[in-house]
Amino acid sequence: MDIPPPDVEVTHTTDGPEATRALAAEVAVLLEAGDVVALAGDLGAGKTCFVQGAAVGLGIEARVTSPTFVLVREYVGRVPVIHTDVYRLDRLADVADLGDDVLGPDVVTFIEWADAVRPLLPDDRLEVEVRRPADGDGDGSAGAGGSGGAGAGGSGGAGDGDEVRVVVLRAYGARWADRADALQTAGRDGRSPDLG
Ligand SMILES: Nc1ncnc2c1ncn2[C@@H]1O[C@H](COP(=O)(O)OP(=O)(O)OP(=O)(O)O)[C@@H](O)[C@H]1O
Ligand SMILES: [Mg+2]
Repeated sequence: MDIPPPDVEVTHTTDGPEATRALAAEVAVLLEAGDVVALAGDLGAGKTCFVQGAAVGLGIEARVTSPTFVLVREYVGRVPVIHTDVYRLDRLADVADLGDDVLGPDVVTFIEWADAVRPLLPDDRLEVEVRRPADGDGDGSAGAGGSGGAGAGGSGGAGDGDEVRVVVLRAYGARWADRADALQTAGRDGRSPDLG
C-alpha cells in the first residue's frame, strides 16, 4: 500500500489540551464544505480534543463529545459538520456503508481512527496525527534539558511531559493547494515550531 507523500506537512508540539484545541481552531478556519479531516493516533492521544477545538473554529457552539459509541454526530457551524469514529467498526464494509452518510460536498467530515479506513478516504484530505512524543523520552525530560530549549516557551509548569503531544498536519490533493501557505502558518503565532 503505497501512500504518496503529502503535499504539505506541518508538525506542531502542544503542551496540553488547550494548546491542541487552539491549534485546531486555527486550522479549522481554513476548512470548507466537502473537506475531510482524517484523524489518527492512539487511544487517548487527543483526536477528539482536536475536533473540539476545530468545532470552535467552525463556529459550532455545541459541546463536541466523542462519537465512539454513536459512531456519528452532526453539528452545524458555519458549515454542517459530521464527526465520526470508526474505532468500533470491524469490517471495512460497515465503514463503506457509513461512508455514504458521512462524506459529501456540503459537509466537513472529521473521521477518528481514519487510518483504519484509509482505502475509503478521498484523495483530497487533511490528515491529522496526534501522538505522544517518541517512546522513552517523555519522563524526566524537563530535567534532562536534552533539547536545550526546554524553557523557551515560557510555559514553565504548564504540566508534565504527559501533556505534550506531537500534532502532524498532512494535506493531500488539489483541494488544499490554495490553502497550503495558510496551513503552514496556522497555529504558529506565539508558539514554537516543533524542532523534530
Ligand atoms: N497536548 C494535549 N493534546 C490533547 N489532549 C491532551 C493533551 N495533553 C493531555 N491531553 C489529554 O489527553 C486526552 C485526549 O483525549 P481524547 O478523547 O481527545 O483522545 P482520542 O485520541 O480522541 O481518544 P480515543 O481514541 O479514545 O477516541 C484528554 O484527556 C486530554 O485532556
Ligand atoms: Mg476520540
